Amino acid sequence: MTNNTGDQTAPHPFPIPRSCPFSAPDAYADLHAKAPVSRVLLPTGRPAWVVTGYQEVRALLADPRISADIRHPNFPALTEGEQEVGARTRPFIRMDPPEHTRFRRMLLAEMTVRKARRMRRSIQRIVDERIDEMLDGGPPVDLVTQFAHTVSSTVMCELVGIPRSDPWFRRVTGTLGSQVFGGGASTAEVASEGIGALSDVMDKVVSDRETRLGEDLLSRLIVEQLKEGKVTRQELITTIAILIVAGWETTTNQIALSVLALLENPHLIEELRQDHTRLPAAVEELLRVLSVGDSIALRTATEDIEIGGQVIPAGDGIIPLLAAANHDSAVFPDSRQIDFERQGRQHVAFSYGIHQCVGQNIARLELGIAIGTLLDRVPTLRSVAPLQEIRFRHEGIAFGPEQVLVTW
Ligand code: HEM
Repeated sequence: MTNNTGDQTAPHPFPIPRSCPFSAPDAYADLHAKAPVSRVLLPTGRPAWVVTGYQEVRALLADPRISADIRHPNFPALTEGEQEVGARTRPFIRMDPPEHTRFRRMLLAEMTVRKARRMRRSIQRIVDERIDEMLDGGPPVDLVTQFAHTVSSTVMCELVGIPRSDPWFRRVTGTLGSQVFGGGASTAEVASEGIGALSDVMDKVVSDRETRLGEDLLSRLIVEQLKEGKVTRQELITTIAILIVAGWETTTNQIALSVLALLENPHLIEELRQDHTRLPAAVEELLRVLSVGDSIALRTATEDIEIGGQVIPAGDGIIPLLAAANHDSAVFPDSRQIDFERQGRQHVAFSYGIHQCVGQNIARLELGIAIGTLLDRVPTLRSVAPLQEIRFRHEGIAFGPEQVLVTW
């Protein structure tokens, strides 16, 4: 066992860009070959620990001695300013129990497999309408902004109870779009500010909804939580904003990157065409291999934690790398290979432990419908530019392509 004072190697700068967009950065395997836990230097100048082993990532994320509280002095923020914005807005993803549990429970009942299945028809309609628009508007069209973003933002709005016909729909989706597509890269700081901007819009949406309650998620939370005094108005607004942002940016990137990965591997598209029942396994494998939310799970040790033969001292920042875990060759042999036969459900693309993604049932459904329907309805779909000319967002909340021009 070693401790940090005995570690003489210079810490690796982090984040580490991917060399192949469809896999974890090569350096993760190099770091992992030396040890499952390594020291890195963040862009803020702070050191932190990254965890690269599958077993170690799961053990750590299930360990009650870690904190997700963004106010912790050594919270491993990935950009300047992110911590200050987070400490102000207090998103529940960056809280610990019992605070975190209160907000998570509020949403969990709305996110069950059964509730997600009830959204099947509306997600199918949303995807079909977006494909109609795409077909009318092109070719070429940008798969990221004109399909992945529009599908995922519309699904998130519909989930909350702001359908396309709602007067607030355009304000909400416009706020989301301008955060990422207006200003270039989506850094964690931009995303945190986005939650602030979205909260301002949601404030007005809540006021409006209070005057015309319906059967939707937002109305239920107003009646069951706000009016019962279980949450404050600001807490409700921030929780809804977090839900929308968390479900939108990840899914946008996962849809766009999945389609691009499939277009680069036409034999996989053929496999899906021949047997539609493989779609859920394909979604699972694409979640694993692409791991778009690699470094979303940011933590701090609240006590000394021994993991992978290393003692992480109390107070140090830790980043369990989800892409590294999903490419740990001891669990996923030949991990870069996209293989729909793989039993990939034990991947950690949705994280693990008490912060594991609450929207995963909806995400799985949405990904399957979006990818499956697009390939079915546009069988000649192909990327205009060669892969090496496509630019990717490496330092965002979620990894994904900036733009993918497609034709058919
Ligand atoms: C491909 C799609 C998605 C991916 C890869 C993804 C990934 C993740 C990850 C890695 C976390 C855990 C962060 C941590 O451990 O600190 C998380 C949390 C969360 N996700 Fe997702 N997510 C996706 C889709 C969604 C959707 C569709 C929704 C909403 C319907 C959603 C809502 C949330 C929320 C609210 C949290 C915070 C949970 C908590 O802190 O308790 N996500 N997601």
